[in-house]
Amino acid sequence: MKNRREFIRNTFAGTAGFVFSRYAGISAPAAPGFDSRVEILFDEPMGTISPNLYGHFTEHLGGTIYDGVWVGTKSKIQNIDGIRKDLVRQMRKIKAPVVRYPGGCFADSYDWRDGIGPSEKRPRRTNFWMDAENDKSPVSHKYDPNEFGTNEFVHFCRLIGAEPYLAANVRSLPASEFYRWVEYCNSPAGSTSLAEERAKAGSSQPYNVRYWGVGNESWGCGGNFTPQGYAAEFRRYSAWLPRYGESLSLIASGPNSDDWGWTRGFFEEIARKGPSHLGSIYGWALHHYAWNLSRGRTNDWEKGKGDAIQFDAADWYEILREGERVEGLILGHWQVMGEFDREHRVKLVVDEWGPWYRPGSEATQGDILEQTPTLRDAVFSAMTLDIFNRQASKLHMANCAQLINCLNSLYLAHEDRFLVTPVGRVFEMYAGHQGGASLRTIFSAPSVQYDRDGKPATFWGLNGSASLHGKDLLVTLVNPHTTRACETEVAIRGGSANSAMAVTLSHTDIHARNTFDNQEAVVPQKKESVVRNGIVFHTFPAASVTALCIRLA
Ligand code: AHR
Repeated sequence: MKNRREFIRNTFAGTAGFVFSRYAGISAPAAPGFDSRVEILFDEPMGTISPNLYGHFTEHLGGTIYDGVWVGTKSKIQNIDGIRKDLVRQMRKIKAPVVRYPGGCFADSYDWRDGIGPSEKRPRRTNFWMDAENDKSPVSHKYDPNEFGTNEFVHFCRLIGAEPYLAANVRSLPASEFYRWVEYCNSPAGSTSLAEERAKAGSSQPYNVRYWGVGNESWGCGGNFTPQGYAAEFRRYSAWLPRYGESLSLIASGPNSDDWGWTRGFFEEIARKGPSHLGSIYGWALHHYAWNLSRGRTNDWEKGKGDAIQFDAADWYEILREGERVEGLILGHWQVMGEFDREHRVKLVVDEWGPWYRPGSEATQGDILEQTPTLRDAVFSAMTLDIFNRQASKLHMANCAQLINCLNSLYLAHEDRFLVTPVGRVFEMYAGHQGGASLRTIFSAPSVQYDRDGKPATFWGLNGSASLHGKDLLVTLVNPHTTRACETEVAIRGGSANSAMAVTLSHTDIHARNTFDNQEAVVPQKKESVVRNGIVFHTFPAASVTALCIRLA
């Protein structure tokens, strides 16, 4: 039986009823004719939503960098200094706050020096993912030409207005190389030889990279460490790094889903040396992929996965069920961290999340790990972002895996073709949450009932999150029911709505997706909502994501 860790290793070795009762005494029943009710508790803020919860991830993997982000300076495809122009335009729209790079597993095989200096002098190297590539994959995916490196990545971030987040190699480079990479990026103009090298690449001024990952998945592809062994490495790699008057935010390689032992072992070992060492950790990086659609039949990484575009209603609910586990994971790991870090100085970072299906839906043949997102993935992503908003007080950052031509991509591109997936549309609709005050919100709706291989199963009927910016309230909602709309009243306890506009992403076909030939199959639609006596009345269609923008009185 294969798990995700082995997959990577092997690849490279060859109610019934209503939920009102749950909130009895808190939420009043919905108005007559309306079966669902949302109540926003204006006076119960739950923390500021860090813009970085809307972060991204780009790895030297398949078509993500080469063909996705990077088309090259000599390309006929519209580009800005080699970077795909359509991508830059779209990412500005979603106010992309931060991008993680260069991996993923790739990061722990990457020598940052290969990706600096004159492009024509950069070496070609065997990509970490080489053995997973196939005969349709382009050479640049197997043997990395290093045309895209630190300078190009930071330039990309600057173009889209995002902060760079670099993951350092802990498995196969010494700590001194981490030190030097920080020096290359951040030492003041003219101060060091590396600053001069950076200046030759066009930037005498430092890049001021603040976010640094200390390895990736160190429990697996990042070195097969024990949590104690990794904690010792983390201490060593972070013991002394040049700061140049700015703080560095170091992110430690956290657990795979529910590996509580990894969190406990790491924090125990860090704290054993002295609690002050916890102060050197900015974030603890949890990874959670939803992949197992076997309904408990297997935990085999290959056999348990489902299809990205061909699925039935049960598969729709099951992937959502697997994805929403992330909320319990945030709460669970937070609790374990609190055993050692009572003041919760360290916050969580979910720097890889998304659904992971079996191969077969690639928009471009040969692009490994590429999936074509459907409406189901939009609903999944919206649900996940709502969870992050609700858990804003515990999270510093989250990064969807991965931006383009990969797993849960916002964009698909090949040569001169480019499209925004339903997932990308969700990021557009949710961008307004960034920096808002997350408000406690109660969602009450009839739950979904479905057939799970002959046995009855249920799933919640409506959920979401709310945030406030001055007089603007943004409520995002997911109706996961594949066939039934939710007639809903949205009330604000402690406030009153003046007007409301809804932007909804949905389709009559739950499999709907955008393709190169039909790029606008799934696009958001605007509709004004009815407001009476300060309450918003709106019908949320089946299988939909809605951003309700409410102007308060
Ligand atoms: O996102 C794809 C891979 O999944 C990443 O490289 C790795 O960190 C994880 O296992």
